[in-house]
Amino acid sequence: SNRTFTMIKPDAMKNGHAGAILDRIIKEGFRIVALKQTKLSAEKAGEFYAVHKERPFYGELVSFMSSGIIIAAILEKENAVASFRKLIGATNPAQAEEGTIRKLFATSLGENAVHGSDSDENAAIEGSFFFSGLEQF
Ligand code: GTP
Ligand code: MG
Repeated sequence: SNRTFTMIKPDAMKNGHAGAILDRIIKEGFRIVALKQTKLSAEKAGEFYAVHKERPFYGELVSFMSSGIIIAAILEKENAVASFRKLIGATNPAQAEEGTIRKLFATSLGENAVHGSDSDENAAIEGSFFFSGLEQF
């Protein structure tokens, strides 16, 4: 597929990096299919990250992701999922490559600036979590 889903997480929003992150995403050749600013309730954040329910960091993750405003977006580019994950870098910013979005803007392993879908299937599920079919054009 040529689509992926991203969120600019509460740390990057609070630290004033949203503009720079969106600028970088566009400069890397992604088209913004859909975009909104919103805030997740703890319940919604828990639902979004349900796959991590049994992990020790789940509570922390849900509390962080519902702690502030986020930007959610569907992005389009050839090979979108893999290409976007390369652009954001490793989950832990300490291990992320120079120049990646997490290296530049993340705070810590838990507060790592951006989300990127890990498969075409999850990209479609996650995009539809935030956007109706009519909003995805
Ligand atoms: P996402 O794009 O956000 O899904 O990150 P990822 O695919 O690189 O990592 P993963 O799906 O494994 O984990 C989801 C999110 O949980 C990460 O982005 C982190 O924000 C958080 N996370 C992962 N591991 C830890 C951890 O050990 N401690 C804490 N506090 N948070 C973690
Ligand atoms: Mg993930």
